[in-house]
Amino acid sequence: MTCTGLDPRIEGLILYISLFQGGVRLKIAEFKLERTLARFQNEVEYDLSASGIYPMFIREILTPEEMVDVYNNLHLKYVHTAGTRHLREAVASFYEGMDPKSVFMTNGSAEALYLLAWSLIDPGDEIAFMLPNFMLLSQVAEANGACVRNFTLDPSQNWSLDVESLKSAVTPRTKLICVCNPNNPTGTVLSKDQMQEVVRIAETVGAYILSDEVYRGAEQGEEMTPSFWGLYDKVIVISGLSKSFGLPGLRIGWIAGPQEIVEKAWFYHDYLSTTVTTFSDMLATRALQPEMRNRIFRRNREIVRQNLETFTGWVQSHKGVLSFTPPQAGCFAFVRFDLPVSSWDLVMDMVKKDSVFVIPGSCFGIEGHLRMNFGVERTFLERGLERVDRTLARFRK
Ligand SMILES: Cc1ncc(COP(=O)(O)O)c(C=O)c1O
Repeated sequence: MTCTGLDPRIEGLILYISLFQGGVRLKIAEFKLERTLARFQNEVEYDLSASGIYPMFIREILTPEEMVDVYNNLHLKYVHTAGTRHLREAVASFYEGMDPKSVFMTNGSAEALYLLAWSLIDPGDEIAFMLPNFMLLSQVAEANGACVRNFTLDPSQNWSLDVESLKSAVTPRTKLICVCNPNNPTGTVLSKDQMQEVVRIAETVGAYILSDEVYRGAEQGEEMTPSFWGLYDKVIVISGLSKSFGLPGLRIGWIAGPQEIVEKAWFYHDYLSTTVTTFSDMLATRALQPEMRNRIFRRNREIVRQNLETFTGWVQSHKGVLSFTPPQAGCFAFVRFDLPVSSWDLVMDMVKKDSVFVIPGSCFGIEGHLRMNFGVERTFLERGLERVDRTLARFRK
């Protein structure tokens, strides 16, 4: 199998030319998910497109007295470029056996993914990339000349890992195996055995595992998704506060990994946004304290659990047209539809005629599906779903 699908000799020639030129940077493809969000998210009455839980208010993290203290004393200077020691310690406490020196703070986990694709990937490198997924790293890596080989979660097996497809995506040239766990957009979680299998396969070729764990903490059940951290010495974890913590406006993310990876990403970060903001660093440190983060997770899980019931009932009311595997984590569902229309056209019709917006499956590389958020206020969800009913009715006819 070649990466481009071209004759292996032509592919070899392209690779040779790109290496000879010191690494040709290809044109980056549009980030379809983010562009689509930017175009429609604020144009509709009912936005059910987000992937995070109904965001928190500052009053849920700080008491009025603490707010006054911030008002009087927070000094808006630059923070340390890796993030303050307090914040890195707070992040490390979220994982077993993590040294704060392994942590490096970024502006959102999107920046963490971008930095890794930029600093770690050289032209000709191979990446094994889980699908469906948040496509940022795959697309930036491809633009940097990497060969991306996809492996899949299997829809016929409730979106569980297709181990055979992972084995065929990994070769001796694989530098990075990328997983998203819990997964966006399906909400599924790898079993412990599957995680071990990913580690075993990575070890055979000496590849890094990059685990995107931004939805860890937003599980339906009581058990927190185990992190890949500590399972293997070449694990890189990226995460942040936007999803399971419900704090996307803080733009706080992080990379935790082996020293050489963190150092290199930090080196590149010096050319980018330099530091996180003073205000976000302070609030994030507070949100990550064990007692506070448990309180936040309780609040968020409550929303997720209650609304999943409503949402499941709604899907069942469209038997024969809609179906889904209930997510194990996250506040969104990847809903399959059986209608003679593409996911993009269906969503465009919804936006224009019913003023409700969800994400077309095509933004994740999978047709015939919609990613729908249910982590919003209950009445808002119910009204939004009524609007989707109207769209579906038009296409059922
Ligand atoms: C799996 C995954 N990783 C990373 C991100 C980036 O989020 P943020 O930059 O807000 O942390 C997203 C956003 O949707 C995501 O779904």
